[in-house]
Amino acid sequence: MPATAIIGAQFGDEGKGKITDFFAKQADIVVRYHGGNNAGHTVVVGSNKFKLHHVPSGVVHGKRVLIAAGVVIDPRVLDEEISRLPDSNEINLGIDSRAHIIMPWHNLQDSAQEQSKGSAKIGTTGRGIGPCYADKAFRSGIRFEDLADRKRLQKRMGEIFPHKKKLLEGVYGAKVEFTEREVFAQYSALGEKFSKNMCDASLEVHNALRSGKQVLFEGAQGTFLDNDFGTYPYVTSSHPISGSFATGIGISPLAATKIIGVAKAYTTRVGEGPFPTEIEGEFAKKLRDAGSEYGTTTGRPRRVGWLDLALLKTAHRLNGFTEIAITKLDVLSGLEKLKVCTSYTLDGKKIEQLPASTDDIARCKPNYEELEGFEITGEETRFADLQLEAREYLRMTEEHLGIPVSVVSIGAERGKTILR
Ligand code: IMP
Repeated sequence: MPATAIIGAQFGDEGKGKITDFFAKQADIVVRYHGGNNAGHTVVVGSNKFKLHHVPSGVVHGKRVLIAAGVVIDPRVLDEEISRLPDSNEINLGIDSRAHIIMPWHNLQDSAQEQSKGSAKIGTTGRGIGPCYADKAFRSGIRFEDLADRKRLQKRMGEIFPHKKKLLEGVYGAKVEFTEREVFAQYSALGEKFSKNMCDASLEVHNALRSGKQVLFEGAQGTFLDNDFGTYPYVTSSHPISGSFATGIGISPLAATKIIGVAKAYTTRVGEGPFPTEIEGEFAKKLRDAGSEYGTTTGRPRRVGWLDLALLKTAHRLNGFTEIAITKLDVLSGLEKLKVCTSYTLDGKKIEQLPASTDDIARCKPNYEELEGFEITGEETRFADLQLEAREYLRMTEEHLGIPVSVVSIGAERGKTILR
């Protein structure tokens, strides 16, 4: 039985939480496989708003949820997040023993590095994601299996902490206000608490798929924050593109036959980095407020821009989407005219996809087509209920990408989702 992957097609914050929640009701297991608590997935059910950072969105449906090996976990955040969930004692969470742990020194290093970069800063979420992944690659990380075992944690911390302290104080001039003993006390208690959740997510997903169960792979961040294929260095430290579900979970790349790209009906970005269709000024503020475009994790105002089909075409190439889900179409309701970028001009030449170099991306001038605006009442339940102009907007997306728009979201609530 095949799995379905939900992937961010832009710069993150596309509404993957809502789309995952929508598909989670048919799934047996929902898996997060990369990133950490830099992600903020919002799921709205009635008057309840769930803000999830680590726990897969399937938790709201009471499903088995897994945090796979490719994720980096801050156990302090995970603990707090779980305590805010209703029925927190009943959540069915498995954590892969191989997942890496965000330690307090990672947060400190993240902010110290950002500060030292001055105006060249990345604009990270400050959650220690980059330093944690760097330590993993550097073989100086602490894994969940270490956290869950006092002796191993003590040994590992003894090897790592003195070196980290020297680095933070000596190189970055940072003030390390925690002692090894304090961190050990806090983390070993959390390790003990979560030890019952330890699992082998790779094996579990493999077995589930073999026995015909439905598994949903919940991506985080977005394609253009990918460490290799995003606008480097203004990227995250993991791989939001679809290929990483295989390495993040430890399963075959053929496991998913449905790869749903999630894109907002316009574009947003948080943090620094090029953004070809960015809008500034009064209209940007209006759009930002209409879409409540303020970060779930950091509260930062998001940069906003027009829908960029050249960017989405590039995302399709990088991910192999089988279909697209368009979110927040309602936010555009009432605008007289809409602009859609269909190509760029770079050094006098027309190009249809993003170039590889970030400097070149920054020099791309968007070429727009203008479309008639539309109204969304919020009462639409079928594709055919959407105004002709709204359908034209979606049709243009389909035409450019050569894949269907299978889901359209016209509001934050579960019910405001149109399935084609
Ligand atoms: P980091 O992942 O905290 O290291 O941040 C690196 C870049 O990715 C920054 O520009 C962040 O704003 C961005 N970023 C990380 N996670 C998310 C997310 O979930 N949504 C949107 N942007 C994100």
